[in-house]
Amino acid sequence: MPESVAVVYFSKGGAAARYASVIADELGAAGYDVTTIDLRDARRLALEPYSAIVFGTGVRIGMVYWRARRFLKRKELLDKPLAVFLASGIAIEDPDKARRKFLDPLLAKRGLQPIMAVALPGMLPGSGGKLEDRTEEEKARAWARDLATRLL
Ligand SMILES: Cc1cc2nc3c(=O)[nH]c(=O)nc-3n(C[C@H](O)[C@H](O)[C@H](O)COP(=O)(O)O)c2cc1C
Repeated sequence: MPESVAVVYFSKGGAAARYASVIADELGAAGYDVTTIDLRDARRLALEPYSAIVFGTGVRIGMVYWRARRFLKRKELLDKPLAVFLASGIAIEDPDKARRKFLDPLLAKRGLQPIMAVALPGMLPGSGGKLEDRTEEEKARAWARDLATRLL
């Protein structure tokens, strides 16, 4: 039986959703049994069926989305292999800075030690509220291929 992995995401502009999809794709290709879950559709998401969790979300106005911060409080995440990705504007220029600024403090606050955590380039807010797509799918694919070798 392949190990079952949940790729859970919460996205507003679509970048984390896109990354969730390609990450799920790569993990599936590596032989995992992958379920992709949009937190918006999951009222009471049971995590017991999954042997590992990949979680992705975004950040706006200096704050990781509230639904995502609430999800990261779940106690089950302390007992399973976890990997986290973040879509961010800052990550377009400086992924490490975005990870240090938004992800690391949040994960530390929750006592989480993911096996991998990454910030990936997201949608850049432009004039008139338009979002410019600066996502880089290949970065997420490479990250997921690396993750596939470390997950379990
Ligand atoms: C109103 C607004 C505020 C934003 N604020 C930040 C920010 O403070 N820091 C940052 O790195 N990116 C910021 N961004 C860029 C988002 O992180 C980016 O759009 C990312 O794709 C969000 O993830 P999502 O598309 O999955 O919702 C902002 C975007 C918008 C639209």
